[in-house]
Amino acid sequence: MRILFLGDVMGRTGRDAVVSALPGLRRDLKIDVAVVNAENASHGFGLAPDMAEAIFAAGADAITLGNHSWDRKEIIPYIAQQKRLIRPINYPPGTPGEGAVDITLADGRRVLILQAMGRLFMDAMDCPFRAIETILARARLGVTHAAILVDFHGEATSEKMAFAHAFDGAVSAVLGTHTHCPTADHQVLPGGTAFMADVGMCGDYDSVIGMGKAPAIARFTRKMPGERLHPADGEATICGAVIETGADGKALRIDPLRLGGRLSPMMPSV
Ligand SMILES: [Fe+2]
Ligand SMILES: [Fe+2]
Repeated sequence: MRILFLGDVMGRTGRDAVVSALPGLRRDLKIDVAVVNAENASHGFGLAPDMAEAIFAAGADAITLGNHSWDRKEIIPYIAQQKRLIRPINYPPGTPGEGAVDITLADGRRVLILQAMGRLFMDAMDCPFRAIETILARARLGVTHAAILVDFHGEATSEKMAFAHAFDGAVSAVLGTHTHCPTADHQVLPGGTAFMADVGMCGDYDSVIGMGKAPAIARFTRKMPGERLHPADGEATICGAVIETGADGKALRIDPLRLGGRLSPMMPSV
């Protein structure tokens, strides 16, 4: 199975790039399942329902969120009825939406998509390790599900690596989001789980993690309220990863994907 995962969609430039490129990427890379993190799609803060619909219509099977899940309030009733939009699983009990979704492909294979959020340099959350363990108690890779994919949304690479090793062999892939910077540590771990600490964002990299430079710099140099942050609006680089899994659900390979904009291009082979 071939899985495409795209990192945090940032503002209009990120949305436009992903919506226009996704159908072609699905076709050219022979993708079976596509997942997009869209926590920053709405002007950098959250996701509106019409934006989610556009990303689904372009070919996403599931959309993940993150610490910006609730920045657009309209997403709260929407997530209650759109099960293919998920938020981190380790929010407190009673939080709207789900942290996991089961997708059934046309050929009957089942794929489980999960999202967990880290706790280092992030909001206080329930334990992401225990939350995933609970789900994996009833989802078995290669038995109940042909693939299991985890979006780990966090700041610290140490926490992301520890998480991936903790579930090595139990899931097909642990892919990091949130820092908006692609890392070069993509690998298949010894137990068969594909890992990349951060797949990067889909946004303008002539920026400070997707935001316009001047107000972002001012945050570091002044200790006074300043201009609101706004997304940089130059051409986006689409950043993500493609994972290929075998019959047992474990990863055979992981390749980074970078398309357009300022970062050096990288297109996985089929
Ligand atoms: Fe983000
Ligand atoms: Fe985030």
